[in-house]
Amino acid sequence: MSDLFDRMRKDQGPIGNHLDRAHGYFTFPILEGELGSRMKFRGKEKIVWSLNNYLGLVNHPEVRKADAEAAAKYGMGNPMGSRMMSGNTKLHRELEHILSAFVKREDTLLLNFGYQGVMSCIDALVSRHDVIVHDAEAHACLMDGVRLHLGYSYSYKHNDIADCEKQLQRAQKMVAKTGGGILVITEGVYGMSGSQGNLKDIVALKDKYEFRLLIDDAHGFGAMGPTGAGTDEAQGVQDKVDLYFSTFVKSMGSIGAFISGPKDIITYLKYNVRSQIFAKSLPLVVVEGMIKRMEMVKTMPELREKLWHNVNRLQNGLRERGFDIGVTTAPVTPVYLKGDLPEATGMVMDIRENYDIFCSVVVYPVIPKGQIIYRLIPTAAHSDEDTDITLRAFEETKKKLDSGAYKAEDIPDMATLK
Ligand SMILES: Cc1ncc(COP(=O)(O)O)c(C=O)c1O
Repeated sequence: MSDLFDRMRKDQGPIGNHLDRAHGYFTFPILEGELGSRMKFRGKEKIVWSLNNYLGLVNHPEVRKADAEAAAKYGMGNPMGSRMMSGNTKLHRELEHILSAFVKREDTLLLNFGYQGVMSCIDALVSRHDVIVHDAEAHACLMDGVRLHLGYSYSYKHNDIADCEKQLQRAQKMVAKTGGGILVITEGVYGMSGSQGNLKDIVALKDKYEFRLLIDDAHGFGAMGPTGAGTDEAQGVQDKVDLYFSTFVKSMGSIGAFISGPKDIITYLKYNVRSQIFAKSLPLVVVEGMIKRMEMVKTMPELREKLWHNVNRLQNGLRERGFDIGVTTAPVTPVYLKGDLPEATGMVMDIRENYDIFCSVVVYPVIPKGQIIYRLIPTAAHSDEDTDITLRAFEETKKKLDSGAYKAEDIPDMATLK
């Protein structure tokens, strides 16, 4: 016998074990001020590249006005209860119709949170006789959905279509025995690398195998495709992707999420997605604010144009300076560098403290030892000046990294930085 709490006190988990040094700096940093490209960190203004505010909507004056007016009208609690019981409104339905038309699907179900929402949709979509085939690098919420599944699930190597087909063959053999069906799950845009799920190749496999496809387009909705309808629009396969999920927390700068697809299947989900049936519906403040955002997304292509201007300026600038930004074809901009933990820490601190640039960094144990990944999110809210200052900072700090300037025995204690 052991006490549960004793184990947690001894071992805080893979990331938590670094909290003594990282808390408040790398993990749980506090950014202050108006959300945008310039915010305060530890009292000093920084250029911020960590917000998935792709279209710059989160702090757009028209959005702020609409949110404030909706809050004054409804308060935060309205409506009470789940959609099924007492929390349904005409505005919820109106937003669902707007979203359906935008992503060219028959119907839509609003979800109060993306993570639980899509996890619970996966739970509702499959029975123990069905098989899930999913990308190995799918987001944690998709993996948790797979974990809820009582039947078989097979993962394929990230974006490896040959492996995807191999796993489909395994799945096909299995469902021949169980009598179930196959659900394939991928993302539209992968949030760490900016790679797009190869939707075109996956849907082409429908000629050979029978399956339904669900995509999580959290990083694509609003940003990708000629109208911003997402990665499947960008790849010209909207009619072949059976279920389209995205969240309002990124391009939309809000909260909540949705899933769109065939009318009868959305009706099934309405009556079977446990995280919605047994939880409060999306507040009207959010719903009305989202209706405003959708109107802006549809009528203001300049938001997307500004985003892509900034994406291209940043990504071309990094490539021209010899940085490895991998295979991104989306706004997500990773910068891959080699270095150990003390070096990575030294470099981030230099960039943050001396060049006043705030971006996220990923190191061991999230990725293998010896690698450093910076992740920058260009948005419509950034200026050319923000980008140019950042490019100069990256150029100078990379020279320092290459010359060994950040080599150190140990990482500094960021938690006690003055
Ligand atoms: C790919 C992906 N799916 C789902 C989610 C979860 O969405 P939400 O924050 O609305 O719960 C996120 C993160 O926000 C994400 O990056």
